[in-house]
Amino acid sequence: MHVLITAGPTYEPLDPVRFIGNHSTGKMGYALAEAFAAEGAEVTLVSGPTSLPDPADARITTQRVQTADEMYAAAAAVAPAADIWVFAAAVADYKPRQMAENKIKKDGDTLTLELVKNVDIAGTLGHTKRPEQYSVGFALETNNEQAYALDKLRRKNFDLVVLNSLRDAGAGFRHDTNKVTLLEAGGQMTIFELKPKVAVARDIVETVLARYSHHA
Ligand code: CTP
Repeated sequence: MHVLITAGPTYEPLDPVRFIGNHSTGKMGYALAEAFAAEGAEVTLVSGPTSLPDPADARITTQRVQTADEMYAAAAAVAPAADIWVFAAAVADYKPRQMAENKIKKDGDTLTLELVKNVDIAGTLGHTKRPEQYSVGFALETNNEQAYALDKLRRKNFDLVVLNSLRDAGAGFRHDTNKVTLLEAGGQMTIFELKPKVAVARDIVETVLARYSHHA
């Protein structure tokens, strides 16, 4: 079994010394890579910039990227041959229209940046998914959580979406714990307790492998 995982943030360069990014640490994606590998899967971990070391497990191949475009290229190269896709990355939604060749100088009192939408990695690959492949996405919501998460599941052709609600204390960015709800295309919903991200990863992997074995 081959699993593709995207993880971490993306950095979108403004000029040679600056970028637009976010606070994703990559912990959830890396924990998922370890948990799939522990079950015997071959894992390709496409990771944005993180402070985490490459996982030591020989079953995990880590590919480092910076931008959403690079993450898409690396994921698209692996996706056709992967059985399971897990999109755990916090991809920057927008990037600067162009990267300045030289450092931007502080000439004026205001600075206007023009941003353009980044490629939707999960959504674009979702349209290429074969019936036997299984796709997992993440949704981070503050309100209307389940409706928004299910909308994401449909739009991006996920089989399962991992919902993090920011209403739950200790969940999401900058925490070592997470509290997730799994929502599936078939309508099932599983609510888990707050627990360490490593244990959350095991719960997700257990559910995904159980569903995958009965899939298509
Ligand atoms: N995703 C992706 N490529 C993007 C954006 C998101 O692959 N350019 C994936 C994420 O890895 C995650 C899911 O899509 O699995 C999140 O969906 P998204 O629509 O980005 O969620 P939000 O950022 O919460 O979107 P919205 O602003 O619509 O709520």
